[in-house]
Amino acid sequence: MVDPSEESTAIPSHVAIIMDGNGRWAKKKHMPRFLGHKAGVDTVRRCVEFCVKNNIKVLTLFAFSSENWRRPEKEVSLLMGLFISSLKKQIRLLHNQNIRLRIIGDKSQLPQKLQDEILRGETLTQSNTVMDLVVAANYGGQWDVTQSVKALAEEVKQGRLAPDDITEASITQNLSIQDLPNPDLFIRTGGECRISNFLLWQLAYSELYFTPVLWPDFGGAEFEDAIASFRGRERRFGHTSEQVEQGQVSNYVQG
Ligand code: FPP
Repeated sequence: MVDPSEESTAIPSHVAIIMDGNGRWAKKKHMPRFLGHKAGVDTVRRCVEFCVKNNIKVLTLFAFSSENWRRPEKEVSLLMGLFISSLKKQIRLLHNQNIRLRIIGDKSQLPQKLQDEILRGETLTQSNTVMDLVVAANYGGQWDVTQSVKALAEEVKQGRLAPDDITEASITQNLSIQDLPNPDLFIRTGGECRISNFLLWQLAYSELYFTPVLWPDFGGAEFEDAIASFRGRERRFGHTSEQVEQGQVSNYVQG
């Protein structure tokens, strides 16, 4: 458990993770890729526990990108099956822990059975308050910004909004997780140093942390390392170090 009394940057409120390396983990063990994804579900559970214990209020996980449909059909179909069975098993457990589940992305393209489970999970947990678990499925950061801009364009078309009144705030308000704070910490496992079309807008001021550890091997100790790295950073949001020292920093100020 992270020691919250350690004086430095606070614990992040929102952690966003790209869970990469399931396939390589399985290959190293001479197992089919799918077993890597299955092991990845156990890591998800461990990370949720970690967040609850350490008072991290939002955990956003990239489970399936808009580009992941390009994978072999068999892998896509096994992944969809795994999402359905994981939701079936986990919804009640999440609810019992007072955790709210939300799925972001273009859900209309997901299999109907998965859409049904998503609706069931989101409805059951919608009033829960301990933490938000956000799962990105058929999600892309460019898609998210595009659908926000489309909604604003519609407002303009209806005469309810003037183009000059489109602001960074109005674009933010139409994004998928507009009511949650932006991620303080972004983690990517598996060694690649890319954002891969994840929360492009929302990651503008996030601290980025890349680790070679493969997702199924990521546990409490590795999560603590990421938090320790985060706590060693100086977050300036465009200000100077002197302003940070004087406590004049707000993350709502862009620049
Ligand atoms: C990336 O590893 C992982 C995925 C595309 C799937 C992530 C899914 C899970 C961890 C399963 C469960 C998630 C939830 C929320 C129920 P990769 O296959 O690209 O690995 P590689 O780079 O080693 O090939």
